[in-house]
Order: sequence, then C-alpha cells, then structure tokens
Amino acid sequence: MKKKIIVALVLSLSVLALSACGAKQSASAKKDIIVGTNAEFPPFEYIDDSGNPDGFDIALVKAIGEKLGKNVTIQNMEFDSLISSIGTKTDLVIAGMTVTDERKQSVDFTEPYYTAVQSVIVPVGSAIASFDDLKGKKIGVQMGTTADFISSDIEGAETARYNKSIDAVNDLLNGRLDCVIVDKNPAETFVASHTGELEALEGSNFDFEDESYAMAVAKGDAEFLKQVNDALSELKADGTIDKLTEEYIGD
Ligand code: ARG
Repeated sequence: MKKKIIVALVLSLSVLALSACGAKQSASAKKDIIVGTNAEFPPFEYIDDSGNPDGFDIALVKAIGEKLGKNVTIQNMEFDSLISSIGTKTDLVIAGMTVTDERKQSVDFTEPYYTAVQSVIVPVGSAIASFDDLKGKKIGVQMGTTADFISSDIEGAETARYNKSIDAVNDLLNGRLDCVIVDKNPAETFVASHTGELEALEGSNFDFEDESYAMAVAKGDAEFLKQVNDALSELKADGTIDKLTEEYIGD
C-alpha cells in the first residue's frame, strides 16, 4: 500500500516537473526581445541603404520596445516562417501581417494598427480590369500571404509563389506573369519605380475585403499581449502612430 502511494507520488511529481519545463517563459519578463519580420514589404519593412531593417513596422516596434523598457533585436526571415518562429526563435512578429482566423489558431494577435487592402499590379495596357478578369490568369504572389490565399481560390488561375513579392514583380516585367497580387502600399512602392510600365489596380472592380495588420505573440502569453497592447494604445493616443504614418506611408 505504502509503496503504491510512493509510486503514485513520484509519478505525479514527474508529471508536474515535466509540465513546468514545457511551459514557456512569458516574454513579458524579458529585457531583450527578438522581433521577427520579413523586410521585403516597403514601406512597412525593407532593408535600407546601409543594410539595416527600416520602415513603419520597424519604427513602431522600436517605439514599443522603448515604452516597455525592452531591447529589440530585429530578425529578418522568410514571411512563411514567421508564424512558426514565435515562441522559439522570436518573441513577437511585426510584418504587415493580416489578422486571419487561420493564423489565430497558432498565435495571438495584438490590436490592429493599420487597415490595408490588396492591389493587383498589371503591365500598363493589360486587359485585366476587374476581379472576374483574374480567372484563368497566371498570378504572382508572395508565398503564405493573404494574396496567396486569394489567388489560390480564383477559378482556373495559376498561382506562382515567390519568397519575395519583388521577384514576382520582376517576372511580371519579364512577361512570365499576367499580374501580381500584393497589399496596396507595397504595390504602389513597387510600381513607382516602373512608371509607364506597371500600374496598381484596386477599388470596387476588385472588391477585396479590408485587412487589419497586427503584431503576433505566442498563443496564450496574455501578459505579454497586454504589455504590447498597452504600449500600442499609448502610441496611438500620443500621436506617434500618426507621425510614423506620415513619415513612412504618407497618407
Ligand atoms: N498582409 C499580407 C499577409 O498578412 C502580406 C504581408 C507580407 N508581409 C511581409 N513583410 N512580407 O499575408
């Protein structure tokens, strides 16, 4: 009898010990946080002339780090790896990332900080003028993005997936694609360096749904989520977000 109790005790203690090891430390207690991004998405994130990540998101997350008294290290990686990096390689992701129900199953999102919409880049003079015209077309997208999900659902369309939207844009210029779908602000940035060759289409003919950008943290890390949300609402209230919008996005 006594032996059984001891065995039971030892067993339950080891289960406790195991679950304690498995429980991740909340990022709220960390002094240094790693922030994942994919710096292929101007004006939200890009590599500047001196080789450093910059853009609206980078400035925003640095301001959040300052509010929280945490050092921020930016880790640039493929967009498609960002979600799975959270909780292991990164503490937080900021990447012009749209809140979706599917992603919510793996991560927790902060309050949104920007409203976006998709845009269709076409060669000037293209016959594509509405969503229906996308049927059966060869469409370039960045892998794992909402543009990828939208394109994959278009009847008869062939989706060409790239690690970077800019590579899709180059294939569009080379005549290998009919169009590229990407979020509006990056689309406008990409098109701006090819005026007369490319244009970005959006609006009611396409009827894309609005998307909300938010930061993502490890699922269940309520304490860190609250810290980041509190910092974000302070930055909204004190005009920092407006200032950064003006500086990087200009609308
Ligand atoms: N908003 C889109 C999404 O969430 C595209 C984001 C791409 N961001 C980037 N940094 N490459 O899927």
